[in-house]
Amino acid sequence: MNFLECINCKSEHPMDEMLYNCKKCGDLLEVKLDLEDLKRKLEKVDWKRRSISVWKYREFLPISDESNIITLQEGGTPLYKCERLAERLGIKNLYVKNEGANPTGSFKDRGMTVGVSKALEFNVKTVICASTGNTSASLAAYAARAGLNCVVLIPHGKIALGKLSQAMMYGAKVVAVKGNFDIALKIVVNASKTFGLYLLNSINPFRIEGQKTAAFEICEQLGWKAPDRIIIPVGNAGNITAYWKGFKELEAIEIIKELPRMTGVQASGASPIVNAFANGNEGIEPVSDPETIATAIRIGNPVNWKRALKAIRESGGVAVTVTDDEIIYAQKLLARTEGIFVEPASAASIAGLKKLIESGEIGSEETVVCIATGHGLKDPEAAIKACEKIVEIEPSLEELKRVLKTWI
Ligand code: F0G
Repeated sequence: MNFLECINCKSEHPMDEMLYNCKKCGDLLEVKLDLEDLKRKLEKVDWKRRSISVWKYREFLPISDESNIITLQEGGTPLYKCERLAERLGIKNLYVKNEGANPTGSFKDRGMTVGVSKALEFNVKTVICASTGNTSASLAAYAARAGLNCVVLIPHGKIALGKLSQAMMYGAKVVAVKGNFDIALKIVVNASKTFGLYLLNSINPFRIEGQKTAAFEICEQLGWKAPDRIIIPVGNAGNITAYWKGFKELEAIEIIKELPRMTGVQASGASPIVNAFANGNEGIEPVSDPETIATAIRIGNPVNWKRALKAIRESGGVAVTVTDDEIIYAQKLLARTEGIFVEPASAASIAGLKKLIESGEIGSEETVVCIATGHGLKDPEAAIKACEKIVEIEPSLEELKRVLKTWI
C-alpha cells in the first residue's frame, strides 16, 4: 500500500485524505510507494511500447482512477547534447534537459497533471496557488482543462509578462499581492484551509510526484543510467526535491545503480539554501527581501528547504550562488551556442555550471545535465534588455550595405 509519510517524524497518513502537513508535528508529507508492489507491476511493462511522457511512468504515480487524469501531454522533453557549449565551458559531456518544451513552457506541468488529476479525485471545485509566475500559468491551464475554478496569487509587479498573460488567458482569477512570493504563499496556505480550496504549491505531495518523472526521463534518455551530476535552479526547492526522489526510487528498485550529485543554484540575492549549505547549518535563515532578475526564483523562505539540503548533502553535491550578471551572460551563451532560449532562472543552472568548472568542483570528465526549467519567451522583457540594441535603417539597399559591412 502506498501512503503519505511525514518528512520529519515519519508518521504515516492515508493517501485519500486531502493533507499537506503531518497531523502530529506539522511538517510536510511525501508519498511513499510500496516498492515491492511497484516492482511487480513494472515486470509487465514494455517500456519501448510507451512514448516518453509523464504518464509513461504511471505505475510510479499515485492516481487511483486513470479516468480522472487531466493531461496536456506533458513531459517527454528533449535532452540535448550540447557540444559547442561544453567546449566553451571546458567539459566533455554536457546535456540540457529542456523543460521549456512542456505545454505551458515550464517543468510545472509535470506536477500539475498529477496534482490537478488528484484534485478531481478529491472532488474539489477550486484550486489555488501562490506563484512567481510559472506555477500560476501551469495551474491555470490544467484547471481550465479539468473544468475547475482557479485562483492565483502573484507578487505585485514582479512576475514576467509571458507568465502573467498565460494565467490571465487560461481564465484564472489573478490576484496581485503587495508583497513578495513568500508572503503570498503564507496567505494562500491560510486561504486553502479557511475556504477549503485545493492548494497546488509544492507543499502538495502529489506535485512532487509528477515532477520526479523528469529524473526518470533523463535516466531513460541516457540509456537507463543517471548522469554524474544534475545542476538545477532552486527557488521554493520543490523541483530539486522531486528529482532526488525520482533518482532514489529508480535506485531502490534497481533500475539504476549510481545516483547523481545534486547541485543547487540560487541567485545571490535570494540564497537561503546556499547560505545554509556553505555554513554547514542544519536549517535555513530566511532572506526577508529577496531580489534577482530571475524572478522565478526570487524566494527568500523556501518551503522545501529541508529536503533540498538533504538531497544536496546526501548525494555529495554542492550549492552555489550566481549573480544577475552571470545569469544574463549564461542565458545568452546557451542561446547563442546551442539555440536554446531559456528564462533567466533556468540560465542560473548554466551560470552555476560555469562557476563550478572554473573553481575545479566539476571535472572535465563528468557527465552533467543542466535543467532548463522554463522557456525564454516567458520573460521577453528580460531578454530584450539583455541583448544588443537593434539597428534601424532607412528602406534602401545602400543603407543595408552600410550596416552589413561591419558584420560580415
Ligand atoms: N525555474 C523556474 C523557471 C521556476 O519557475 C521555478 C519556480 C524554479 C526554477 C525553481 O523551482 O521552486 O521547485 O525550486 N517557480 C515557482 C513558481 C516558485 O511559482 O512558478 P522550485
